[in-house]
Parts: sequence; structure tokens; C-alpha cells
Amino acid sequence: MTLPTLDARLGAVLDLIRADTHADIGTDHARLPVRLVREGRVSRCVAVELNPGPLALARRMVARARLSEQIDVRQGDGFAPLLAGEVQSASVTGMGAYTICGILERAGEKLPPALVLQPNDSPLWLRTWARARGYHLRSERLLPGHWTYPVLRLERAEGEDPAYAALPEAAALRYGPLLLREGPPLLLERVRADIARLTPVAAPGREAWDELAAAREALAWVEGR
Ligand SMILES: C[S@@+](CC[C@H](N)C(=O)[O-])C[C@H]1O[C@@H](n2cnc3c(N)ncnc32)[C@H](O)[C@@H]1O
Repeated sequence: MTLPTLDARLGAVLDLIRADTHADIGTDHARLPVRLVREGRVSRCVAVELNPGPLALARRMVARARLSEQIDVRQGDGFAPLLAGEVQSASVTGMGAYTICGILERAGEKLPPALVLQPNDSPLWLRTWARARGYHLRSERLLPGHWTYPVLRLERAEGEDPAYAALPEAAALRYGPLLLREGPPLLLERVRADIARLTPVAAPGREAWDELAAAREALAWVEGR
């Protein structure tokens, strides 16, 4: 049986998942759960979908892959259809960061110890959420696509997240502490584009002023490594 193809962002998400039991929240086409099980990265997966159309699509995909024993497709909002402690990790991908944050906030004690998140916009709020809720950043990637897609792996851990040590905070939250340390070309492209966009509109007291300061700090840090 042929495996469902994944675009670059979902391919990066796949690479960051290895667990006995996993949940994919907002699964839609269920391509990720099918690949996770087929490649032996997880032995069991719960695929959660809120809306009836994508839910039916997910059920068809799983049945066609003959994986109904290993992938349980459930309808519901975020982590609501899961039991506390049922999965070791979860992915929430292909949505805005604000929507993802809402799903994580509503999850309460059902949140697993590992999360792989892929927002379609700035991950600033997800990094801020992770710091406040006791998750450390273990991996960050930037993928080309319709937008520049960030992918984050978070793990529950005690104390301050060492990823942020010695970095300018605003720049690290906006651009990613691990990405700043690594300095990939796509990040530099993003930072330079932000500086070009923000410079004409930045003025004291405006949001663009702080954003520009963070972008300049990020550039200085990456270039000075
Ligand atoms: C744009 S699709 C992304 C699909 C897939 N995760 C990906 O990255 O390609 C977002 C999916 O999440 C579902 N969704 C949105 N909010 C949700 C929620 N609170 N709980 C479960 N599913 C949700 C939508 O119905 C939609 O199918």
C-alpha cells in the first residue's frame, strides 16, 4: 500500500514524533497519523477532529490504510475526547497560533508531556505559553511553503528553559531561541524582511518600534555568533 505524501511542514512534524501513544488534534485528512503508524514511530494514535467533513475524510483515510485497529478517530474539541494520561505526546498543526493556544489552554490535565506544534503564523504566543506552563523547547525548525512554517517540539520540564539562557528575550520569543543559536538562512531572510517592513513605520510608542528592536537584536545576535 502506498503511503500518503506529506508536505515539508508535516514531514518535519513527523520527524519530531516518537512515542508509544500519540494524539493528532485537528487531524483533517489523517495523513500524519497514517504515516506515524506505518513508519512505526507510534504504535497507537488517536486522531481528533472537530468538524464533520474532515472527520469523515479522516475515517475514510484510516479505513483505506487498514489501520482502524491502531488509529482511533474521535470527534470533539481539542483534547476533550481524550482521557488524562491516555497519550504520551500530541501534535497540533496547520492552525493559527491563537487557535492552538486556546486548544492547549482548554486541555488542562489532559495535556501530555510532549507536544509538537506547527502554527501557520508567528509562534510567539506558543513560546510564551510554553514558558508559563512548564514546557521546554527541545527542537525548532523553519520550513518553506505558502508561509514560512515554524515547527516546535516542547517537553514538560522543571525550572527555567535553558534554551533561552544568555539570549535577548524579546528576540528569542519572537524568532525562537534554538533557531537564533542555529541561524538558518530562512530565519535570516525572515529577520531581514521584518527589518525592511518595520523600519518605515516604527516610531516610539508604536508596536512596530518594539518589533523592530527585537528584529535588530535577533540579527545582531545571529551575525555575532
Ligand atoms: C487547516 S486543517 C490542518 C490539518 C492538519 N493538522 C495539517 O496540518 O495538515 C485544521 C483542522 O483542524 C480542525 N480543528 C479546528 N479546531 C479544532 C478543534 N478545536 N479541535 C479539533 N479539531 C479542530 C479543523 O476542522 C481542520 O480540519
